[in-house]
Amino acid sequence: MPRRYSRIHELDLPWRLYDAAILLLLASFVGACAWTRSWTGPFVLPVRFLSVAGFLTIFYGSFIEPRLLAVRRYAVGKGERSIRIAFLSDLHVGPYKGASWVRRLVDRTNGLKPDLVLLGGDFLYRDASDLPELAPLKRLEAPLGTYAIMGNHDEWKSGRETRAWFEASGIPLLVNRSVSIDREGEKLLVSGVDDDWYGEADLEAAFKDFTPDAPAVVMLHNPELAPHAAALLRGRTGATVFFSGHTHGGQIRLPFLGSVARLPHDMGRRFDRGRFTFEGFPLLLGAGTGESGPRARLFCPPEIVLAELRF
Ligand SMILES: [Fe+2]
Repeated sequence: MPRRYSRIHELDLPWRLYDAAILLLLASFVGACAWTRSWTGPFVLPVRFLSVAGFLTIFYGSFIEPRLLAVRRYAVGKGERSIRIAFLSDLHVGPYKGASWVRRLVDRTNGLKPDLVLLGGDFLYRDASDLPELAPLKRLEAPLGTYAIMGNHDEWKSGRETRAWFEASGIPLLVNRSVSIDREGEKLLVSGVDDDWYGEADLEAAFKDFTPDAPAVVMLHNPELAPHAAALLRGRTGATVFFSGHTHGGQIRLPFLGSVARLPHDMGRRFDRGRFTFEGFPLLLGAGTGESGPRARLFCPPEIVLAELRF
């Protein structure tokens, strides 16, 4: 029986006013330049420096860093054999990014020559009207296939339409189920769990067909599911790795402080992006490739996670 594992965190209202705040800061930057023109004395330079630095930081975070694309590499497990897995999440097509960005993501991912591509949910930002922007995803190339899960933004208003889009696109959606892939006579399990906020996450159903010793990759949009998944899979001997998104790495970060905004989970600030371990199972938490709330990213560029799973 599905149950709710996490608490829903709605977007904070101030983030929706971000574009207005950019305009206000731009106006104050111009104002500060004009205002200090007739100034003399020791404060002129610091005030000008701070206004220029503030303006450049906001401009960079709003319009340049969101268009950068990093590849974050991990190696998990031990053994002679390995597969390369590319994981992309939180595309959030809509107000800020569209098909041209998705095309760039796809080209970059194909260039990494992954064996398997995983899409970790939150394809949409608003609603189903933006689904056509995802069309370039159909060009993803990987010999073991491309698989996707639903995120909270997909289940929120457009669950039915998103499922239909994936059905038509030929990219299998893993909603509380797993598939077994044959790799040169070797079995690999790929499992996906539904979103926990607006969907119905059912971990037991997702792992129903698991055998204890085959290598397994598990997609959980919200990392808050990871400890529950790990508890259920305790004792399995096959190499296992979890992939999550949802946090966007905080999206806007400050050095030493981490995420400026509250993260959308109750796991604590430490769980923003990177590698974590639950019951011995690694969780690779990606910073995502799109934006929600403010259009900006700062010290947290969009990223493709590229993992080498050894077994
Ligand atoms: Fe997201």
